[in-house]
Amino acid sequence: MKNGLIVSKIKNGTVIDHIPAGRALAVLNILGIKGNEGNRVALVMNVESSKMGKKDIVKIEERELNQREVELIALIAPSATINIIRNYEVAEKRKLNLPEKIEGILKCPNPACITNNDVEARSRFIVISKSPLVLKCDYCETTLTEDEVLRQILL
Ligand code: CTP
Ligand code: ZN
Repeated sequence: MKNGLIVSKIKNGTVIDHIPAGRALAVLNILGIKGNEGNRVALVMNVESSKMGKKDIVKIEERELNQREVELIALIAPSATINIIRNYEVAEKRKLNLPEKIEGILKCPNPACITNNDVEARSRFIVISKSPLVLKCDYCETTLTEDEVLRQILL
């Protein structure tokens, strides 16, 4: 980082780096972090990045991410890197992979869609474009744009 460390290194936990600028709050939302959990969380927004112009960073102490959380982050921040920190060292660095299908997380915008009317049905979207993100409901073919995905995640 050109201007040195903005927040200190963490001892154990997760650092989500290279988040597109402005999306750190959406990442916190995905992780369900409200700020009253007691563990330390650092949020860095709109800092210079040699790779991407500007970026956000989220550091969470004493927390690792589950598969569902990683998939959701891949949706809205595909450029992000997940660093698992153990005893101050980067123990693991995971790149994100956007899955081909997103199941049971997002809501189809079509009120008549079976997934909005049958309590047994789980939503399922197929990724038809990664950049910009476009998803298509596997049941009614309604498309979901990146803006709509972000809106749903920020709710
Ligand atoms: N980090 C941290 N606490 C640690 C170790 C690392 O907060 N104990 C943070 C770093 O500040 C950085 C991220 O974790 O934001 C990844 O660390 P590192 O791999 O050392 O940095 P880079 O080489 O710059 O990562 P990349 O190659 O992903 O750009
Ligand atoms: Zn649908």
